[in-house]
Amino acid sequence: MSESISKLKQDFEAELASLVLTSKEDVDAIRVKYLGKKGLVTDLLKQMGGLSAEERPAYGKKVNELKEFVSEAIEKALLVAADAALQKKLASGFVDISLPENGISAGSTHPLYDVREEIIDFFAHMGFEVDFGRDIETDWYNFEALNTPPDHPSRDMQDTFYLADKVMLRTHTSGTQIHYMETHKPPFRMIAPGHVFRVDSDATHAPMFQQCEGLVVDENITFAQLKGVLQVFMDKLFGSGVKTRFRPSFFPFTEPSAEMDVSCVFCKGEGCRRCKGTGWMEIGGCGSVDPNVFINCGIDPERYTGFAFGFGLDRIAMLRHAIPEIGLLTGNDERFLSQF
Ligand code: PHE
Repeated sequence: MSESISKLKQDFEAELASLVLTSKEDVDAIRVKYLGKKGLVTDLLKQMGGLSAEERPAYGKKVNELKEFVSEAIEKALLVAADAALQKKLASGFVDISLPENGISAGSTHPLYDVREEIIDFFAHMGFEVDFGRDIETDWYNFEALNTPPDHPSRDMQDTFYLADKVMLRTHTSGTQIHYMETHKPPFRMIAPGHVFRVDSDATHAPMFQQCEGLVVDENITFAQLKGVLQVFMDKLFGSGVKTRFRPSFFPFTEPSAEMDVSCVFCKGEGCRRCKGTGWMEIGGCGSVDPNVFINCGIDPERYTGFAFGFGLDRIAMLRHAIPEIGLLTGNDERFLSQF
């Protein structure tokens, strides 16, 4: 019995030595041959059943020693095989370090975000406070306090997203003027950038877009000052040399009211397809604060005057980058966004 154990040990050693161990598969084959379920070492263990009780312990010990010996040798052989495989790969492989890298693309800020930050920066330097207001307004702030009577067309169900009776998504940032005037005493200067919502949708109108409101209140504030501030603002946004014009208009909360245009940024006022041949582009509304608005906010209209303005940020971003459709700005299309 013990001869067959030492014989098997010799056979195993001889077989292992005869192999050029370059692969894990070679070593695995030997492991199965000796240690597998029907392997040679396993066979010897099975034979233990036919032995007498006296013979068994010594025999069992020997076979187990053999089993351990074989297992260890196989473990070592596996390491040798893995190393050999690596060496072979290194010898045959070639890394071309001159190949271009896989482009890593860096993200960038959104064009709307850029415009908003630039506007905030500009007005902050002129001493304006920033108030972001709230997206959901009541009838008082969105309309009534802004001198907008109940039958005014801008209250139409077709324009306003109502959430409940007298509660709506704000249709403009002007309501923030009221919140601000209720909580601050003049003199003050503030801007209110934020999202606004209207039931409207085509190439240049979206149901959600961004505006920036502005409000200045003090003694002796004039329309001329409004024009001055907005001219400097337009110079900043579109480069000095851009012309502005104020067209008479109507807003319930300003009197007089005006619509401000800038000379077309594409044709410099010559007239082109983008400005429909007029040479001008509309930027936003503005005017002197209507005394009724002051009264609604507890501010004395005999003592104070002010001006207010409101612009579409999407429109400014579109003009700057010649973006043809407003929907692109909020569409999250990688192909569009990666151009900035
Ligand atoms: N709220 C107006 C609009 O959405 C713009 C505006 C703001 C006009 C302030 C005058 C003064 O069109």
